[in-house]
Amino acid sequence: MQEFDPQVLNEPPIPPPEEFSKRAHVRSMEEYEEMRAHAERDPEGFWGEQAKMLHWFEPPKKILEWDMPHAKWFVGGKLNVSDNCLDRHLEENGNKPALLWEAEDGATLQLTYTELQECVCKFANVLSGLGVKAGDSVTIYMPMIPELPIAMLACARIGAVHSVIFGGFSAIAIADRIADSKSKILITADGGYRRGKVIPLKEMADAALLNCPTVEKSIVVRRTNGKVDWKEGRDLWWHELVEKASKECPAVAFDSEQPLFILYTSGTTGKPKGVMHTSAGYLLQCQWSTRLVFDLRDDDIYWCTADIGWVTGHSYMVYGPLANGASIVMYEGAPDFPRRDRFWEIVARYKVTIFYSSATAVRAFMAWGNEWIDKHDISSLRLLGTVGEPINPAAWKWYSQVIGKGRCPIVDTWWQTETGSILISPLPGATPTKPGCATRPLPGVAARVVTMQGETVKPGETGYLIIERPWPSMLRTIYGDDERYRRDYWSRIPGVYFTGDAAQCDKDNYIWVLGRVDDVIKVAGHRLSSMEIESALVSHPAVAEAAVVAKPDEIRGEAIVAFVTLRSGQNPSRELRAALGEHIAMTIGTIARPSEVRFADLLPKTRSGKIMRRLLREVAQKGGVSGDTTTLEDLSVIEKLAHTRGHDEE
Ligand code: WTA
Repeated sequence: MQEFDPQVLNEPPIPPPEEFSKRAHVRSMEEYEEMRAHAERDPEGFWGEQAKMLHWFEPPKKILEWDMPHAKWFVGGKLNVSDNCLDRHLEENGNKPALLWEAEDGATLQLTYTELQECVCKFANVLSGLGVKAGDSVTIYMPMIPELPIAMLACARIGAVHSVIFGGFSAIAIADRIADSKSKILITADGGYRRGKVIPLKEMADAALLNCPTVEKSIVVRRTNGKVDWKEGRDLWWHELVEKASKECPAVAFDSEQPLFILYTSGTTGKPKGVMHTSAGYLLQCQWSTRLVFDLRDDDIYWCTADIGWVTGHSYMVYGPLANGASIVMYEGAPDFPRRDRFWEIVARYKVTIFYSSATAVRAFMAWGNEWIDKHDISSLRLLGTVGEPINPAAWKWYSQVIGKGRCPIVDTWWQTETGSILISPLPGATPTKPGCATRPLPGVAARVVTMQGETVKPGETGYLIIERPWPSMLRTIYGDDERYRRDYWSRIPGVYFTGDAAQCDKDNYIWVLGRVDDVIKVAGHRLSSMEIESALVSHPAVAEAAVVAKPDEIRGEAIVAFVTLRSGQNPSRELRAALGEHIAMTIGTIARPSEVRFADLLPKTRSGKIMRRLLREVAQKGGVSGDTTTLEDLSVIEKLAHTRGHDEE
């Protein structure tokens, strides 16, 4: 958790630009308060009303069945998610661009809604032809190419459950996730491009498949044309399958609660959890929030820069914008390739109007310097968004002034993989903003900051962020571990949803999210678990014990620091430090590689043997310890730790 400067609480709110408010879907705080009051009075009536924006084959009979902690939304309703994202737009907007894709090497591809629908239908037929049935899980491990959303929507069309794994995860991480979801099909590519280099996705996927007996077929997109190993009978080329497939694939009606996807995310144990989302409630709240928070209009060009491997890409690159019939920009590669102005070049080229990115990206742009932005005409932009971690007020102000030219409102959106969609955010035409603050809960969202006893904290006091009532896009369970679902989210403070975040609420009822209170680390917005990294470390033969903590990082928000004690006979060395980093990259992925590995003779423990991470955090952040050490077993440990070094260069 970052240190919080209470000074920012006193900053005066910035009203939304008048020009923006005039044309916005929600134009004033009065309108917002009205919606909010309606939702408070009658939550089910409120969501029932909103649900009319979906295309139903059969309308729901009941809005909510709530048997804590299990929710069923829009009971008895029938719909098809891919029909809602595609078919319903065809009559009026068939020729509207759905996807404006740009490759890292500059190649482009545009798909209209009609074309995208056809691609999805063909691939849905391919999947059905391979025996995939409603409810089956399909793992997707792909670069940012159009085939990725096509594969997701094709799954949705036939009721299969997709599990997308971020391309930065390693073979072992993929295998764990496939084993958990029991997928029969894997969809991947021969490779992907990143900063001009080929990422060997198929090689990684093949290594994973050595340990995945459930997978019968691996479908491979030809992206790089590089040489790949081929296993006859298992591996199939995407283009060959699609060539033979029919483009007729009527959308089948599925139940509101038909599982839509599993997305693995990190929690407080070593094992990643499969967050399960279902159809109607998830799609509704994605569509609704995209419209309100981004103030989406028909002629917008919308760009969310997130990778689809994370939840932001699921909800705000694919489902939310497509359900609204928006034109979406999708970019394959890195923001600094070939130069640091790539994003602004793209904004200028496509005349992007809505730009949604991460706090880490904003801080990186700021560090790279304004000259990269000044080269381009980015006057098409009208709204900016940020997500993933707290954004510091300085970065917020820079974003507003240098990218937004003081003209674009900023939506600092708070949400989680588990919440499915944005829950706390300004409404850009209504909410006065405060730099660094996600402001107020959206209408229909009962968010509060409370003590462990569930009592509301006073303005300026830190507490836990909770959500009191179920909401349509909430996770339904942890796949295969309902007990963990109940324990992690609904039992910490009995009866309410526990977010795992610390927050403060100010005198204007604005919520300031401060960061995680658990072992979740956010590096560049990527969600990692310290326990997962620790278990990777102790699986290395040289390691006896490991503890992983975060320290603040100016650009990436947090950086990973690993404290390691070695087995007897093992000696600290530069080579071993590098080998441990490599071992983590192999076991989890390069995104989890620590920025410091510190060798220690002993780790600070309580008398009962629990590692005191709080003290390690202090050592990592400040070089020593000033906090309470009375429960520490051996005080000299701290003295020694303060002298450990994390880098070779030091
Ligand atoms: C953090 C990402 C402050 C928070 C969509 C949350 C934020 C975790 C914000 C979820 C924000 C996300 N301000 N913190 N605007 N948005 N977070 O599952 O700690 O990758 O619990 O979902 O990110 O991360 P996840």
